[in-house]
Amino acid sequence: KFQGLALTPPMGWNSWNKFACNVDEAMIRQQADAMVSSGMRDAGYEYINIDDCWHGGRDSLGFIFPDAKRFPSGIKVLADYVHSKGLKLGIYSDAGSQTCGGRPGSRGYEFQDALKYAEWGIDYLKYDWCNTEGLKAEGAYKTITAALKKAGRPMVLSICEWGTDAPWKWAQNVGHLWRTTGDIYNCFDCVKDHGTWKAWGVMQILDKQAGLRQYAGPGHWNDPDMLEVGNGQLTPAEDRAHFSMWAMLAAPLIAGNDLRNMDEQTIGVLTNKEVIAINQDPLGIQGFRYSIKDSVETWLKPLNGGDWGVVFLNRNKGKTISVNHNWQEKVIVDSVADRTLDTRKINYSVFDCWKKISLGNTSTPLKISIPPHDVMVVRLKAMR
Ligand code: DGJ
Repeated sequence: KFQGLALTPPMGWNSWNKFACNVDEAMIRQQADAMVSSGMRDAGYEYINIDDCWHGGRDSLGFIFPDAKRFPSGIKVLADYVHSKGLKLGIYSDAGSQTCGGRPGSRGYEFQDALKYAEWGIDYLKYDWCNTEGLKAEGAYKTITAALKKAGRPMVLSICEWGTDAPWKWAQNVGHLWRTTGDIYNCFDCVKDHGTWKAWGVMQILDKQAGLRQYAGPGHWNDPDMLEVGNGQLTPAEDRAHFSMWAMLAAPLIAGNDLRNMDEQTIGVLTNKEVIAINQDPLGIQGFRYSIKDSVETWLKPLNGGDWGVVFLNRNKGKTISVNHNWQEKVIVDSVADRTLDTRKINYSVFDCWKKISLGNTSTPLKISIPPHDVMVVRLKAMR
């Protein structure tokens, strides 16, 4: 458990998906305010993360400073403000000479940058991978890990090399989370071709997580990128499905929308406490796709106390699909996590985490229908 941090998947907010390079201190403060007033803080969200483009330059000694127009009060004052709200502040840099947005990168300045972040009171660092010609990911990330350690302030380290060098194989004691793919694209089921690189819809990202669950656990998580919930492209059903699948993946829940003007539906999705409990389960076992039938996928996630999270996901764009699920049909063995779901030996109560109603128990089959691009999320609670 690397440094005792991120024992459950980090929860917070990040500026990139909604604001890209348009960041400033007033906006960041307002996001912190909104995280509290919307109930998100009480639901478990903790980090307010500034992404790319906050940088101004380096002083004559090489120390980094923020853009004076966008952050006139400086980062320390902002960190103090965020801390006064009971939240934590995250910042962003890049292993290369420049960030993806063309701001100064940390290459050659790792120890100085870590010192500054520590001095400012930073709690989380996202470390990107643009302009890294000639660098090897593992070595570059180990350098910033060493620098953060030397600086002496505990910080979550978010590795953002897009899965290029299979970080799940080497990053367990280097960072607390690592991106597994290129950037998310704000669309449920499509690919955005940018020419030299592609961005991936929610379902495309989901499919790319196959085979990675064995690498995730407390303190070290697969990161399928930040949420697009509430960013106006996904339907309410798709927002629910996106959030539910990220919960099942034990993914970091980093909201990427404008928290200052959310509608009730968006707040309802982001603060669903039963779904969040599946994500934040202390065992930290990443869920898996168990079956696919008629475009409905069944996903399972072993939970603390012998409970299970179960999701039925309808990937069909236009058709509502009926599901008749006999819980007792099979004994399910999860050999990766070494757990067994045996509904013949144990009776489980069935709770619908979106409708927030009880659906009886596993001795009777579940008959449901799932609208296009929607999910049903249930928690099976072991009755002993
Ligand atoms: C690429 C990353 O994957 C994104 O999440 C974002 O941090 C941008 N870079 C910022 O330039």
